[in-house]
Amino acid sequence: MTQRRMHFVGMVNPPTSQYAENWRNPLGRSDWLRGDFYADLGRTLERGLFDMIFFADALAVPEDRDGNFATTLETGGKGSIYLDPIATVSHVATATTHIGLGATVSTSFLPAYAIARQLLTVDHLSGGRAAWNIVTSTTNAEARNMGREAIADPASRYDQADQVVDTVLDLWRSWKPDALALDRDERRFADPTGVRRIRYDNPLSRGPLTLPPSPQGHPVLMQAGSSPRGRSFAAGWAEVVFAIGDTEEGMRDLRRELRDRARLDHGRNPDDLLVLQGLQPIVGWTDADATTKLAALREQIDLPEALTKLARLLHANAAGLDPSAPAVDLLAAHRGATGSVGFEDMLASVSNRRRFTVADLAIEQALNQLHPQVVGSPATLADELEHLFRSEAADGFIIMPALYHSSFEDFVSGVIPELQRRGLFRSRYAAKTLREHLRD
Ligand SMILES: Cc1cc2nc3c(=O)[nH]c(=O)nc-3n(C[C@H](O)[C@H](O)[C@H](O)COP(=O)(O)O)c2cc1C
Repeated sequence: MTQRRMHFVGMVNPPTSQYAENWRNPLGRSDWLRGDFYADLGRTLERGLFDMIFFADALAVPEDRDGNFATTLETGGKGSIYLDPIATVSHVATATTHIGLGATVSTSFLPAYAIARQLLTVDHLSGGRAAWNIVTSTTNAEARNMGREAIADPASRYDQADQVVDTVLDLWRSWKPDALALDRDERRFADPTGVRRIRYDNPLSRGPLTLPPSPQGHPVLMQAGSSPRGRSFAAGWAEVVFAIGDTEEGMRDLRRELRDRARLDHGRNPDDLLVLQGLQPIVGWTDADATTKLAALREQIDLPEALTKLARLLHANAAGLDPSAPAVDLLAAHRGATGSVGFEDMLASVSNRRRFTVADLAIEQALNQLHPQVVGSPATLADELEHLFRSEAADGFIIMPALYHSSFEDFVSGVIPELQRRGLFRSRYAAKTLREHLRD
């Protein structure tokens, strides 16, 4: 049996990151409206032999409970700026040759045909390196930007997502792989018997698509919803799941559940579904150095501003927040505000376990959105990742850097070689397409 190896995805969402102060930090680059910013990130992660670089997205500047976006922009809150992910990955594709390119596209607004064609175009242009991060969008602000009055309830969003993904896959398969004949002598461009309409009773599209399959067939599917409905969606469709687990046991349970559901409910091979855990690494030359770095990051966070951001996220009244009150009470009073059941479950679980006050929650949210942190020297981090990997809590990790680009550079220069020495990570790309990297 070949040895299991880790997989890595780098998450990109400037001008913040999961660390709210990235844009203000002198070690963070601020040219995030320029192509070079993304091309350099792609090259850095490709030097680290990452499976994929992935671009988060949302379709609105986040609003507070009164529908105002002013505090988001004034404080440089998460989501104040998002470049279109499809256009951005197309740019990174030209600067790189191996790394996978993940783009977030919502299933709630665009026609399935448009989604299928955009993503398969990127897949062709990149030689089979595209992935689709399937989201359903979560806020009314996004719905209103896209011509709707309000966001649908989570169950309806996932029902629609099932239908859209099913249609997109059908469109991606509307050409047989050998239908593009290009036979000059026989004057035969394509074999029409190898190209079909999609199922006749599907109201979303007719097909065929204007594109044959890509070198990897079609883009890789990934997903990050972690509510019970989100998990069943992931078990049915996803090849890569972005998990958020606040304890090792929670990570292991989620991975096991997803694999079981994939096998039992959908007849899939569970090894075709990789569960990657989101982590914020703080890498230092020594453990003490990393702890100092973390303290410096924490130091930059301004408590009143962090409270304003927390109130906005939870659609709470900022003026009425009591910083010393228990965080769990605040979360319970604003259940459902973020639109993400899974994320809110995680906030509640961490706040309960660590007995957070509202002020603690605000600071941690600004520091890393409560995603697990790994802090230490490259050897210490490699120990922790190795443990999570070997104990089957993870197939790999989504690296959520605090600072662009320096946190990725530290990880690639320090931790990756340590994992390679231990035989836990590839020492070269063995294949060309993303789906092959994920199976390697
Ligand atoms: C690592 C990670 C990355 C995510 N990236 C995005 C994103 O870029 N855009 C988005 O709209 N939602 C994003 N989400 C949210 C989920 O895709 C999902 O829509 C949300 O959590 C609601 O689903 P749930 O209620 O099943 O948890 C992300 C979640 C996680 C854990």
